[in-house]
Amino acid sequence: MDLSDMRKKYKGDEECFEENQLVSLDPIKQFGNWFDEATSCPEIGEANAMCIATATKDGRPSARMVLLKGYNNDGFRFFTNYESRKGSELESNPHACLVFYWEPLNRQIRIEGTVERIPSQSSSDYFHSRPKSSQIGAVVSRQSTAVPDRDFLRQKNAELEEKYKDTEVPMPDYWGGYVVKPHSMEFWQGQTNRLHDRIVFTKPRDGEPELGEFQRAAAGDWVYQRLSP
Ligand SMILES: Cc1cc2nc3c(=O)[nH]c(=O)nc-3n(C[C@H](O)[C@H](O)[C@H](O)COP(=O)(O)O)c2cc1C
Repeated sequence: MDLSDMRKKYKGDEECFEENQLVSLDPIKQFGNWFDEATSCPEIGEANAMCIATATKDGRPSARMVLLKGYNNDGFRFFTNYESRKGSELESNPHACLVFYWEPLNRQIRIEGTVERIPSQSSSDYFHSRPKSSQIGAVVSRQSTAVPDRDFLRQKNAELEEKYKDTEVPMPDYWGGYVVKPHSMEFWQGQTNRLHDRIVFTKPRDGEPELGEFQRAAAGDWVYQRLSP
């Protein structure tokens, strides 16, 4: 199958994304602005769906979609099974990359950072705020392990529904949240002429010189620069 002619029109040069259009030099606030626009865009069903890439300790990558469940100055929060493939990769290599792609807006945000578990109490608060069926689903699923068939899960689900009919579902210790603490955030907007806009904020590591040739100071300890598309 040849897909070489498959391409879509993005934005024209008059709609480009220039540095003076940043609503803030704090990339978390800039994220908030684009996220709010994505959330209010009727053609985007799940603005909080993001791809998260993790890797084994020896650098073999894997990626999958998860849902962003909150963000603030500390970072970007999502929930999962700590014993899943991503969970075990994060235990041995606590670095991740998140990608949001909002196709109708021709926008992508890439976030790289270190990952930590959130406090168990915060996970438990979120766990118990979910519908009971989702809580039971999280208990049923030993995520990323092999099962004989769908009936196996159906039956386990029915057993747990009966067991917790009148009581709260305890949060399993293999389930909870992570926070991705960003040290790099790239805002990309697509242009039809392929001169895409890329503005990347980074937190220089200790010992790195103050500002590179094209770098500018941003909020806090962030700096930013434009990358070639
Ligand atoms: C739109 C979307 C949202 C998802 N949200 C989550 C989520 O928030 N947490 C989660 O553990 N899995 C979520 N999944 C399922 C994951 O993509 C994945 O199948 C699962 O987490 C197992 O991944 P792993 O074996 O790489 O650990 C979502 C899938 C899709 C398509």
